[in-house]
Amino acid sequence: MHFFNYKGNEMYAEDVPVRLLAKKYGTPLYIYSYKTLLRHFTAYKDAFKNCPNIICYALKANSNGAVLRLLAKNGSGADIVSGGELFRALRAGIPPEKIVYAGVGKTTEEIRYALKSRILMFNVESKDELREIDRTAGKMRLKAPIALRINPDINALTHPYISTGMKKHKFGIAIEDAIENYRIASGLKNIAVIGVHKHIGSQITSISPFVDSMKRILVLVDELQRLDFNIRYLDIGGGLGIPYHDETPPVPADMAKNILPLLKERKLTLILEPGRSIAGNAGILVTKTLYLKKGEGKDFIIVDAGMNDLMRPSLYSAYHHILPAVRNRRRKITADIVGPICESGDFLARERQIHGVKSGEYLVVMSAGAYGMSMSSNYNSRPGIAEVMVNGRTHGLVRRRGEYKDLVKDEEIPGYLR
Ligand code: LLP
Repeated sequence: MHFFNYKGNEMYAEDVPVRLLAKKYGTPLYIYSYKTLLRHFTAYKDAFKNCPNIICYALKANSNGAVLRLLAKNGSGADIVSGGELFRALRAGIPPEKIVYAGVGKTTEEIRYALKSRILMFNVESKDELREIDRTAGKMRLKAPIALRINPDINALTHPYISTGMKKHKFGIAIEDAIENYRIASGLKNIAVIGVHKHIGSQITSISPFVDSMKRILVLVDELQRLDFNIRYLDIGGGLGIPYHDETPPVPADMAKNILPLLKERKLTLILEPGRSIAGNAGILVTKTLYLKKGEGKDFIIVDAGMNDLMRPSLYSAYHHILPAVRNRRRKITADIVGPICESGDFLARERQIHGVKSGEYLVVMSAGAYGMSMSSNYNSRPGIAEVMVNGRTHGLVRRRGEYKDLVKDEEIPGYLR
């Protein structure tokens, strides 16, 4: 459920017409809905309230400071994958004791920063990384709390680029090698083993991969506890899908219903790392139609948002609904909706049936709140686009539009070229 709906022919973001926001703030424009973000986060809180838990929002989905502040104020923790994300999480007021840190390539500086910040735990992805964390913690005279990220060899039945829990993937430690690695970890002086972590992929639209991987992980948890490892946290990652097209993915309550009974009497704090299911349908991308062009056998609608602003269609052939900001009754056409970037792969939709659009009219790319702005770039020297948050009738910038001078602000000309 989200708060981007038509009232009459006019699409609204909560109580504000999208057209009005596009006029005021310009396009391309990301618009986030406060109420939708809160609703999605609350759905997790409510679903898991009977089990000790921490909901660690995955910053990579959308790390805008206002989004993070909203979640922090409502009790969210953070799942981070870089020093930059740690900086953002702390800045937004997310308490360090609710921060978990994953990623296969943590650098020594990043490890030091996380240790200094006293995060809850590192989700460690290899033996080498474990040793580096031990070394760094030793130098700082600290003990590093860790979980090992276990790869349960489960097919998440999602797009291959966003599936992570199989043997062939770079992530985590194979489940067969788990015990050996836990032994190594507990033998290290500056490491405190406190948890088990898994994350099997993203945009998962059925419950079975969650249930199957949970069962496998619990066998391991029991074995570890029998061997006297002090496992207190079970981090089951993120990955719950959202409706982009006609999918009907499970909701947090379905997750809880299927997963909590498996935990039985085990005394564990559950950690969840949702990203997309919180932010995805809480954001839209508004773009203006620039030109219409008849191509060889098809039409093109050329808009002012490009693959640099939303790369999901180009990168994953992802589907996003594209709707007019103001509905019309014109004849439907089939068109490629493309951006201004100099690449044939620069499209938001291909062969899409859409009511005729005129130049100057706004189109709305739905479900763009997650992995939209956070994956954007300045390719073709396009300044970063603005982000707005709407709350009821209130709206305001949560990131100003970039300017040309922002594009070069970190560059230097070497002396010999002056
Ligand atoms: N935890 C870990 C360790 C992760 O790697 C991820 C996502 C999440 C949590 C959050 O997963 P979510 O709940 O959002 O599915 N750029 C791709 C998605 C990449 C996901 C990477 N990891 C896309 O646009 O579809």
